[in-house]
Parts: sequence; structure tokens; C-alpha cells
Amino acid sequence: MKVSIRPLKVSDALISYRWRNDASVWRYTGSKPTHSIDVNKEIRWIQDVLQRPNEKRFAICIDKGYYVGNVQLTNISNGDAEFHIFIGNINFHGRGIGTQATMLILAFAKDEMGLERVHLYVHPENLSAISVYEKCGFRPESASKNSVLYVKRL
Ligand SMILES: CC(C)(COP(=O)(O)OP(=O)(O)OC[C@H]1O[C@@H](n2cnc3c(N)ncnc32)[C@H](O)[C@@H]1OP(=O)(O)O)[C@@H](O)C(=O)NCCC(=O)NCCS
Repeated sequence: MKVSIRPLKVSDALISYRWRNDASVWRYTGSKPTHSIDVNKEIRWIQDVLQRPNEKRFAICIDKGYYVGNVQLTNISNGDAEFHIFIGNINFHGRGIGTQATMLILAFAKDEMGLERVHLYVHPENLSAISVYEKCGFRPESASKNSVLYVKRL
């Protein structure tokens, strides 16, 4: 399956707001919706985050541009950034898309942004995410009960 990433845009909210209301997507994520998200709320949220200077947010697309998830770098500073990913359409989990999207944003972080290090936090029971991160060269550096810090040096 051909996977690409492109800058997130406000109109993506028309699709992504539905994913916010699927609890299975957010089972292991650090931040998760605590109440129902409607399309206007999602639009306002994207408008807000796209203005943040220390973040780079992308849509994950397959085939002819079909939008299936988000991948982003936040807290960008001093050559380092924090990585986040979700495939919001769970029909597309387990097909290699997360791995390819992770490789693509890591290449962007290194080649286009000149970053030296990317880190992430993952729940220790999120085995598919951990599998993706280890395949992409992240290594565990420290752990607490509900969170493992993984780091990749670019
Ligand atoms: C985490 C996530 C992005 C992974 O994306 P994906 O497209 O499903 O991942 P891939 O298909 O590229 O790879 C998944 C890997 O996990 C493996 N895997 C899946 N379930 C597993 C399990 N229970 N135990 C061990 N490995 C497992 C798969 O075999 C696959 O590895 P392989 O390609 O070597 O066979 C996706 O599951 C997701 O969006 N989850 C919800 C949001 C989330 O948890 N984000 C991460 C927060 S840190």
C-alpha cells in the first residue's frame, strides 16, 4: 500500500472528528477526548494547532490520497521533537501504514528540519505501537508504570 503524508488542513476535520468519538483509537494514548467531539469543535482545534510555531502536523494518506490518520511532531526545540501518531480509521490498523508514516515523518524531521533527535511516550501495553517504533529505530530510554520513553537519534 502506498502511504504518503501531507500537511494537515482545516477541512480534514470533516473526517477526523468521527475518529475522536471512537474510544478504541484512544485506548492507550496520553491525550484522549473526554467528551463527544462535533465537527465544529474539531475545526476550531485544527485552526488552533496549525498556528503553533513549534509543531508540524501531517495527514496520513493512502492510495489516491485517502485520509486515514494523523502524525505530528510537537514541542520542537533545540534539535528535538516529540512524536505522535494515530490511524483514526481502525479498518486500516495492522496494514503497515503506521510504520511507513513514521519513516516518512522521521525523514522529514532529519532532511527538511535538521532535527537530531525525536522522542515519544508510549503505554507499555500498546504492543502494535511499540512494534512500529522499534522497527523504525526508536530505542527505550526510561520507563514508568504507564509510559515508556523511546528515543531515536537521527
Ligand atoms: C499504533 C498505530 C499507529 C500502529 O499503526 P499500524 O498501521 O496499525 O501499524 P503497522 O501495521 O505498521 O505495524 C503494526 C505492527 O504491530 C504488530 N502487532 C499488532 N498487534 C500486536 C500485538 N498484540 N503484539 C505484538 N505486535 C503486534 C503487527 O504485527 C505489526 O508488526 P509487523 O509489521 O512486524 O507484523 C495504530 O495501531 C494506531 O493508530 N493506534 C491507535 C492510536 C495509538 O495508540 N497511537 C500511538 C500512541 S503512542
